Amino acid sequence: METVVSGIRPTGNLHLGNYFGAMKNFVKMQENNRCFFFIADYHSLTTHPTPEDLHGNVRNVLVEYLAAGIDPEKATIYIQSDIPEILELYLLLNMNAYLGELERCTSFKEKLRKQPENVNAGLLTYPTLMAADVIIHKAAKVPVGKDQEQNLEMMRTFARRFNRMYKVDFFPIPQAYNFGESLIKIPGLDGAGKMGKSEGVGNAIFLADAPEVIRKKVMRAVTDSGPTEMNQKKPEPIQNLFTLMEVMSKPETVSFFDEEYNHCRIRYGDLKKQLAEDVIAFTTPFREKILSLSEDSDYLRKVTREGAEVARESAAGTIREIREIIGFKPF
Ligand code: TRP
Repeated sequence: METVVSGIRPTGNLHLGNYFGAMKNFVKMQENNRCFFFIADYHSLTTHPTPEDLHGNVRNVLVEYLAAGIDPEKATIYIQSDIPEILELYLLLNMNAYLGELERCTSFKEKLRKQPENVNAGLLTYPTLMAADVIIHKAAKVPVGKDQEQNLEMMRTFARRFNRMYKVDFFPIPQAYNFGESLIKIPGLDGAGKMGKSEGVGNAIFLADAPEVIRKKVMRAVTDSGPTEMNQKKPEPIQNLFTLMEVMSKPETVSFFDEEYNHCRIRYGDLKKQLAEDVIAFTTPFREKILSLSEDSDYLRKVTREGAEVARESAAGTIREIREIIGFKPF
């Protein structure tokens, strides 16, 4: 069994793109690994949320990930700020993290450019906190998306540096968790790109969306004036609807509309109506789970308490050893 750690940013709701991307793989991953999933609430302080927003976002993410299939019987799910040992490791790693290398990180440079009014030390040391998150459990693997590859490289650097500096073989050097067969990319409804890529109101369908909301979003999806030649190649907005349909609907449904398209008699309104109902059928069980979990504070408290217990035990063991290695010893 390999130890895998993954952090979840407490922002936004889960949409179909997230579900068929990372989420489904998390659910699979927990079957045969020692998984730690945590909600990265310390990290989110870099954006200065209000206490209400912070708590609300953490709760929301917890509920949605549980509803989507993270199973506390199989994986350890916890809130980052319940594990103070992470901060101790963060401080220790920061002593050997250099200004130059932190400043060179693209996500930091982007923040400098986009929000020059709030370039705080937390942003600069975001990669050391991330490294602490992972190596505190001596994890072998981290599932990371494209945007997090540099952060993974930094974790590896800090882990290696510690080992070298103290001449120990203490931290495993974490590697990217490979999901095997490629992730299903779900297109958005605004005619271009992945779901969630643009912030447009109607671009993404969330697992928590009510049926009326889903109908409205799908009916407003971008289309064109229709094909004019038989078997014409589908332009992106139309192909996107078909791609979504391939994931959500029965194969007969897809081939029916495909045929209609190829014979230039497609009615996008009919396609959208069918697609909306198929999406609703898929999301409804998730939405119901989300609604019931969000009312069950006792359960959420139990899950996070038990998760924190397991994670703290693992983290405390690492810290005990590191303190010894570094030279913090009792007299
Ligand atoms: N930075 C990650 C993100 O923006 C979240 C995260 C924080 C994380 N700590 C982590 C991911 C540790 C993997 C491992 O999505």
